[in-house]
Amino acid sequence: MQTFPIQKIIEHGPGVKSFYFPKTFDVRAGQFVNLWLPGVDEKPFSVSAVMGDWIEISVKRYGPFTTALMECREGDYLGLRGPFGRGFTLQNNALLIGGGIGIAPLRLLAQELNVRGLRFVSLLGAATAYEIIFARDFQKQSVCYFTTDDGSMGKKGLVTDDLVDIIAKEKIEYIYAAGPEIMFVKTKELIDPLGLPYEFCMERYMKCGIGICGQCVLDDSGLRLCVEGPVLNRDDLKEVTELGLLHRDASGRRV
Ligand SMILES: Cc1cc2nc3c(=O)[nH]c(=O)nc-3n(C[C@H](O)[C@H](O)[C@H](O)COP(=O)(O)OP(=O)(O)OC[C@H]3O[C@@H](n4cnc5c(N)ncnc54)[C@H](O)[C@@H]3O)c2cc1C
Ligand code: FES
Repeated sequence: MQTFPIQKIIEHGPGVKSFYFPKTFDVRAGQFVNLWLPGVDEKPFSVSAVMGDWIEISVKRYGPFTTALMECREGDYLGLRGPFGRGFTLQNNALLIGGGIGIAPLRLLAQELNVRGLRFVSLLGAATAYEIIFARDFQKQSVCYFTTDDGSMGKKGLVTDDLVDIIAKEKIEYIYAAGPEIMFVKTKELIDPLGLPYEFCMERYMKCGIGICGQCVLDDSGLRLCVEGPVLNRDDLKEVTELGLLHRDASGRRV
């Protein structure tokens, strides 16, 4: 664990911010770091972009940790360790499906695909317009489809509503998704019959982040999301029986 000052903060809207830290390691899209707020807790966050000597982390407020993070100011010191986990593989003619703050890891993925000259299309959805973070950057890099629950940006509805039509229209050959687990369930239901390969960037309550404590194990696969994930592919997910049904709470109990 090393401590770093926050270099810069961008506010996208109430409870959604991006934080910038000095880049001291190489990181791949889909990998995550653990942020430590002294006296509060330590929690995992995807790296959402790499910009020269900075890394970017984009956060939505949920509970105690993210609320405390929202209070931090530029110059405040935070602990940071990582990067951890397995990132995305890079594929051509892909569709990036992002739900809410799940858009964060897809932003770095878009950067990496772009550098490699690989074609991709973005399908991004959130509760409201400002939660579709960095929408303009995605528009500069790809054809984009947006959905919001309240209709404030793009089409009103769920990100999966037109998924099958978009796959056909854009001649998609590979799917990446990041977002809430219910979105994975729906996405899987729609794309499994099409036989397309995919990778989902998943979240579980994590503690050690390095494969020791067993907190993030996905039943019945035995996969530890912090080591074998957080990006899992279609084959990995065949073994996972708890998708959208169960997860472990802070005590490790399945709920
Ligand atoms: C690999 C990974 C990458 C992540 N990347 C990001 C990111 O880029 N940006 C971001 O804002 N958040 C990200 N998260 C989620 C982030 O870690 C949680 O939002 C954070 O732990 C919440 O802490 P809290 O104390 O604010 O809220 P808590 O009190 O811990 O949680 C508030 C609510 O969120 C739920 N929750 C907490 N942690 C998780 C989780 N991991 N998955 C699903 N639900 C959860 C709780 O069940 C509760 O309902 C990531 C999580 C993982 C595992
Ligand atoms: S968080 Fe400890 S094994 Fe994954």
